[in-house]
Formats: sequence, structure tokens, C-alpha cells
Amino acid sequence: MFTRIKNFLHITVLMNLYSLRNLLTGNGAVWLKLDTSDLENMAQETVERKSLKLDGKNVLDLGCGTGTMLSYLHRKEHCIPHGVDLIRLNIHQCRKKMKDGHFSRQDIIEYLSKTKEKFDLVILYGVIGCFTVEDQEIIIGRIAKLLNVGGVLWIGANIYTDSVYKFQTYPVPRGFYEKICTDSSLWELDEFSELEVFGNGKYDQEQTTVLLTKKIIV
Ligand SMILES: C[S@@+](CC[C@H](N)C(=O)[O-])C[C@H]1O[C@@H](n2cnc3c(N)ncnc32)[C@H](O)[C@@H]1O
Repeated sequence: MFTRIKNFLHITVLMNLYSLRNLLTGNGAVWLKLDTSDLENMAQETVERKSLKLDGKNVLDLGCGTGTMLSYLHRKEHCIPHGVDLIRLNIHQCRKKMKDGHFSRQDIIEYLSKTKEKFDLVILYGVIGCFTVEDQEIIIGRIAKLLNVGGVLWIGANIYTDSVYKFQTYPVPRGFYEKICTDSSLWELDEFSELEVFGNGKYDQEQTTVLLTKKIIV
């Protein structure tokens, strides 16, 4: 019960406050301690690490905030941007930045059950922890169906239950991603410390990025 109230306050109050602040300051990150360049650097590192070729390809950012990563990938990699977020102000800012993008003010699970698009990169940066561990598995399963083979699901700012950082609403147990990979044999797993690779440890020095590459058709 407490966790659900915390999640509600986090998404409806805090996230709206950050979005309002971002409108006034121009900061592109819906975070207290991150800014536009943090998000852009992480997006670039991820593209390089997986040698992604996104020219003319669909990229979906779930919980896209003000569209900072998408707009960067649109400018630098010439991808077709798709974004989903619950906050009206965020979607408004995304549409202003990317006139030819596709944006929905919608719940992520609802969007995933309806869209007919296919993607080469799906981003969930700082978002997955808003969902129960059960729903996280459902979300990953639905994304699997929407990714092209060779496509990548990027789950960023991933926090584990034994982490020193205690503010994540729904952290995942150790072995969570390994189990998903062995259960389905669909994914190739690459996981790394965000502090080591992105230089990002502003929240939790142990937080990781998980990159799941889809190996076969489902
Ligand atoms: C910590 S912010 C991260 C935003 C963006 N990815 C970034 O790094 O700037 C989390 C975002 O997820 C969105 N969000 C949370 N739960 C959501 C849901 N169920 N459906 C759609 N968006 C959601 C919030 O509105 C917020 O913009």
C-alpha cells in the first residue's frame, strides 16, 4: 500500500514538478540531478557500444520525458522518433522539438498492447522502476514482440533490491535479467555499470544499464 502511494506521488506530483521546472529552465532531463548533456552522452555511448544503425529506423522511448534522448538520436542518427509519456507537458515539449515525431500521452502498458509499429531501439531510461516486478516482465515480453531481430531494448538506471540506494519504488532481484534470458532464449544480455561506462553515478554508484538484443523472431 505504502509503495503504491509513493509511486503515485512520484509520478503525478514530482515528475510534473520536474517537467514544469524543465519548461522554465530548458533542462531536458526529468531528473533532479541529471541534465541534457548527461542524457545525450548516454544515448551516444549506447549507440556506439551496440554499433546501432538507426538512419530511417523507428526508435521508441517509453517514459520519454521531454524527448531529450529521442531528439538527440533524431538529429545525430536520423532515426524516426516515437515517444510515450503520461505527462501532458512532456509530450507538448517533445512535439515542439520533433515536428515529424510520433508522440502519445498514454500509459506504457496500454501503448504496448495497441501499437502496430516495429522498432530497432526501445529505450526505458529511469522508468522501469515505476512498475511492479511482475509488470516489468510483462513490459519486456511485449517489447520483445515489437522489436526487429537485432533490435535493442535499453533498460537504464536499473536498481537491484540489495542496492544501497533505497528510493527505487520497485527494484528488481539479482538474476532478474539472466532468468528472462534463460527462460526465453530470445535475448542476448549485456549489462554494465553506468558509473564506469557513462560516468553516471549521481543517484546510485551501483546502478546498471541492461541492453537486451533480440536474437530470433517471436
Ligand atoms: C525519471 S523520468 C525519466 C524521463 C526520461 N526517460 C529521462 O531520462 O529524462 C520518468 C518518466 O516516466 C514517465 N512515466 C512513469 N510512469 C509512466 C507510465 N505508466 N506510462 C507512461 N509514462 C510514465 C514519467 O511521466 C516521467 O516522464
